[in-house]
Amino acid sequence: MESPADVRERIDSLRKQILYHNHQYYVLDSPEISDEEYDRLFAELRALEQQHPDLIAPDSPTQRVGAGPVSAFGVVEHRVPLLSLANAFAPDDLAAWWRRTSTLLGQLEFDAVCEPKIDGLAVALTYVNGLLSVGATRGDGYHGEDITRNLRTVKSIPLSVPRESAPTRFEVRGEVYLPREGFRRLNEHRMQEGLPLFANPRNAAAGSVRQLDPAVTAERPLDIFVYGLGWAEGKARPPTHYETLAWLRDMGFKTNPLTTRAGTLEETQRIRDRWVDERPTWSFEADGMVVKVNSVHLQEELGTVAREPRWAIAYKFAALQGTTRLKEIRVNVGRTGSLNPYAVLEPVRIGGVLISQATLHNEEDIHRKDIREGDMVIIQRAGDVIPEIVGPVTSLRTGSEQVFHMPANCPVCGAEVTKPAGEAMHRCTNAACPAQALERIKHFVSRNAMDIEGVGEKLCDALFARGIVKDAGDLYSLTKADLLQLERMGEKSAENVLASIAASKDRPLGRLLFALGIPHVGQEYAELLAGRYRSVDEPAAAGIDELAELSSVGPTIAGSVVAFFRLDRNRQIVEKLRAAHVTLSRKETQESANQPLAGLTFVFTGRLSRLSRPEAEAMVARLGGRAGQDVSRNTSYVVVGEDAGSKATKARALGLKVIDEAEFLQMTGEG
Ligand code: IVH
Repeated sequence: MESPADVRERIDSLRKQILYHNHQYYVLDSPEISDEEYDRLFAELRALEQQHPDLIAPDSPTQRVGAGPVSAFGVVEHRVPLLSLANAFAPDDLAAWWRRTSTLLGQLEFDAVCEPKIDGLAVALTYVNGLLSVGATRGDGYHGEDITRNLRTVKSIPLSVPRESAPTRFEVRGEVYLPREGFRRLNEHRMQEGLPLFANPRNAAAGSVRQLDPAVTAERPLDIFVYGLGWAEGKARPPTHYETLAWLRDMGFKTNPLTTRAGTLEETQRIRDRWVDERPTWSFEADGMVVKVNSVHLQEELGTVAREPRWAIAYKFAALQGTTRLKEIRVNVGRTGSLNPYAVLEPVRIGGVLISQATLHNEEDIHRKDIREGDMVIIQRAGDVIPEIVGPVTSLRTGSEQVFHMPANCPVCGAEVTKPAGEAMHRCTNAACPAQALERIKHFVSRNAMDIEGVGEKLCDALFARGIVKDAGDLYSLTKADLLQLERMGEKSAENVLASIAASKDRPLGRLLFALGIPHVGQEYAELLAGRYRSVDEPAAAGIDELAELSSVGPTIAGSVVAFFRLDRNRQIVEKLRAAHVTLSRKETQESANQPLAGLTFVFTGRLSRLSRPEAEAMVARLGGRAGQDVSRNTSYVVVGEDAGSKATKARALGLKVIDEAEFLQMTGEG
């Protein structure tokens, strides 16, 4: 590659390839080549450009992060102001808007487009002769800040668009945001570095985009959804909003794939209901649904009042954050004796649910977030998970707030509390602490353990308080008469309870080992044990060294297993289970199965619906395969569940076989 023409040609070809793969990866989410291959193309281009600086073009993929930091942002005047949206909070508000709009238009029905309202930062991107020339924040709607250099680092924003199809000058609008996973990683990293955490993805996105040093912005995994055209010169725009989005997509912009057309109010409501359910699985945060009149002509007819277009409305989702007072911090004792602090809150409604308690993890975490009793705190609810305290509102402190300290004695039995070195949790030192015994029973019956339906926390409390059930083994000798002593327990319910207890006798060995509640033995390790041993008696008889070999986690878990089975109390539970004919060994069919997965490596990613992750991995091991954590060329199959993340992307990039849970189960012969 000697002649200047050759170099130019190669640079051109590399740019085209990188541009194409960039678009596949960042905009369409469907990469065709591996990261390594992409990096190779990129490195070659960079090297050639370094040797021939005169050939560097402003839209070259190497030119995303340009020069160093600035001291302040310039001001950009918006040619067409960036408006805000009127809000609807209830079905009636939306219905009123729909009615008003049809009245104004003098027609009964009209076409609308529904889009998620992304919780990020509005930006306006101006392209001149095919090149990104200015990127600005919304600012006050009339003037924004020039953040071009930062926006250039957002990989899903095209630095150039095809000149043949694009208007000579135009401005697109969209929302720059941090995907949930990126937000989580960013905060995790900041926590490790001891930096203050971002309260939500919007703050994180805004903070990232307004960095004076573009190199910092470039490190944040920012993304964009483009949702409209500001203005355009030199080419007629499509007559509808929906077609405009398709047009922008064809130019290389990333639009939201959930965008849906609706012809009636009822349809709009249905879309919103579906989105409210599905929202927890989205990779981005959205705080509502934007409904827009589809016809651009009708939009113009409707016009704007008070900086809000009459042709669009934001139908907000119920907020999943709220502020309330932390009245008191209390402590629960868990089944392994851990002291689990939780917050007692002044009840607050978040996302339609009344919240009066939140988890607080451990003392260290409380101090790191500087949460004090009496503080006003920000509460967050994500999907169905237990609400969490984001942090205190320190500006509202009065001085009477109290710093929290773990009690020196167990709040249930009064025994001494210790904090083992290297552990985050405080523990009650009394192995016979009644709180622990009760929690162990609750753990035994829980869904991921023996899954005894109908025996919930309340029933465990009642049976334990009356001394009818002292440990999990006693569950299997319960009689109808025992149950009928309890308040609000009728014949029929008692029979149901006994039936579900009986049904649980046949659970797989992995579940039983997990249900026993051996400290440090989670589902994963329990499944490992179940794959290695044929019955509960084998690990019970094994030594530390043998057990430690099973897992990379090392001697702590192994020591814990040995210590557990040494205790008479625990051995008695096992004997009670045996006497009640609870299955204590691996099922025969599992053993005699020929090995359908021999020689195959599996990586699981995302949520499976029928199997838990440890169960799936144990199944692979049992059937002769190997389950790994990392996707590589050696992976035979990547099994993708719901909400799968980067592993699925990487698998596709590597051209690996990607299957879903049903296909996996079919392979195992258990589908
Ligand atoms: S349309 C005149 N569509 O919401 C219509 N806005 O309150 C202007 N936003 O500043 C915006 N997702 O930052 C529109 N799909 C979407 C949106 C969206 C988020 C934000 C945008 C705007 C604010 C208006």
